[in-house]
Amino acid sequence: MNTDPTQQTATGWWTEAAIYQIYPRSFADSNGDGIGDLPGITARLDHLVELGVDAVWLSPFYPSPQADAGYDVADYRDVDPLFGTLADADKLIAEARSRGLRVIVDLVPNHTSSAHRWFQEALAAAPGSAQRSRYIFRDGLGPAGDQPPNDWQSVFGGPAWTRTVDPDGQPGQWYLHLFDTGQPDLNWDNPEVHEEFLDVLRFWLDRGVDGFRVDVAHGLIKQANLPDWQEPQEILSGNEIDKPRPPMWDQEGVHEIYRQWRQVLDSYPGERVLVAEAWVEPAERLARYVRPDEMHQAFNFEYLLAAWTAPAQYAVITRSLEATDSVGAPTTWVLSNHDVVRHASRLGLAVGGGRPNGIGIGDPQPDAALGLRRARAATLLMLALPGSAYLFQGEELGLPEHTTMPDEARQDPTWARSGHTQRGRDGCRVPIPWEADAPSYGFGPTDASWLPQPPSWAEYALDRQRDVPGSTYELYRAALRLRRAHGLGRGTLEWLSSGDETLAFRNGDVTVLTNFGEAPVPVPPNAEVLATSAPLTEGTIPTDVTVYLRG
Ligand code: GLC
Ligand code: CA
Repeated sequence: MNTDPTQQTATGWWTEAAIYQIYPRSFADSNGDGIGDLPGITARLDHLVELGVDAVWLSPFYPSPQADAGYDVADYRDVDPLFGTLADADKLIAEARSRGLRVIVDLVPNHTSSAHRWFQEALAAAPGSAQRSRYIFRDGLGPAGDQPPNDWQSVFGGPAWTRTVDPDGQPGQWYLHLFDTGQPDLNWDNPEVHEEFLDVLRFWLDRGVDGFRVDVAHGLIKQANLPDWQEPQEILSGNEIDKPRPPMWDQEGVHEIYRQWRQVLDSYPGERVLVAEAWVEPAERLARYVRPDEMHQAFNFEYLLAAWTAPAQYAVITRSLEATDSVGAPTTWVLSNHDVVRHASRLGLAVGGGRPNGIGIGDPQPDAALGLRRARAATLLMLALPGSAYLFQGEELGLPEHTTMPDEARQDPTWARSGHTQRGRDGCRVPIPWEADAPSYGFGPTDASWLPQPPSWAEYALDRQRDVPGSTYELYRAALRLRRAHGLGRGTLEWLSSGDETLAFRNGDVTVLTNFGEAPVPVPPNAEVLATSAPLTEGTIPTDVTVYLRG
């Protein structure tokens, strides 16, 4: 194949798709146990058609002890009874496809659950055994072996190593877990691990999925000898190209894995895709994951993290486009997901004030109205950018983070593992409201909800926004409709202005303008306003508003 990246530009549904992330636990509960499930999703698919997205990505629904909300997988080829059955998964895939929606599932290859058969076998087997070599077991340091093998910290806080207990009750070796203790890291130097995941890919491809979102794609290979790393642990692998790279992230060896996977995907009919969740900066480094023979796309977290100012947005958009252009891949855009504070709340915090890992009682509270206003402007801008866009369930309702959740209700292991210093991600994972006056706001048939829903959520319910002019839901629908009608996802961006206060660009026959400044900006004469994120005032575009214009 031609591997000169400048010679190719990818085409295909995924290059311009709007992809909607479903977090199964919190989307729709069919049986009233307070946990969303696959039949619940199937019953609500028409919502996604009406919204106007092209595909869904489902967070994990596999059998799991749920130590990390399903990102601890005990069996990669089945469905947790909490969420349904394999037959329910097949039905969901079929029903989605019959509506023209593609389906992407989550694949978690960096670690299994500690309940996975392999890990249980490893614990029962001796040090040095074939069973242990599927994971990263090491002897402890010190005469008694009671010190962890190195100084790595877990992303959720605390040490990245846990000591095992041998079958005879004596303390044994340690195993590595970059996340929770219930998520032992696999050893990707072991060919058996490669074989296993190639087979898992085929299992789901055979069932008709359109692709995989690859969890922690930058973490699979660790630097040989696992050297110490004195820095605090972060999932983000680095931000300066010349800084030393952490020994657990973005190692060269990961790329060979994805080249192999790509061959498997390419051997299937249709366009099946791999999407990297790789917290890798800068954009040039991330682009290496989407070279023509590797993954199809990668989440653009640099965009998600960028401050809400014209210069910051201009810089990140420009850099993102350049970096992916250099390898012929489409750019992606994302503002919210199940791991970050929802953008309707994040943007209501002081600009440039850092990125909190969760917000709780006693923390500085976002300005909800400002946050929503900016979120609507940010989304309208995002949906006009060339490339594909990822939406997180509930953002089409303008849903804020739950920022006053009682700490006792928290489930994210981050809260406990950080010694109650990081609140973690529960606030963005709250079951979403469908009907204002129904129990659990229509999430399920009962009041049950695995995380408490804030009392103010009736106003965000879908049935309060549907067909209501100016509602956030109708704004998303309009934006997605215009995006499709004007081919914005496959267009090209041409900057018209990039000042300190405003950004303007042209994409095809649409001009997009965002006013970040205090002074209102006049709508150019003769321009037709196709969409606006908030009402205009006397022909001017107020602060924190994006408009689509024609003419
Ligand atoms: C990814 C997931 C996150 C999970 C972690 C460990 O970052 O998005 O939710 O906790 O991987 O699997
Ligand atoms: Ca349920």
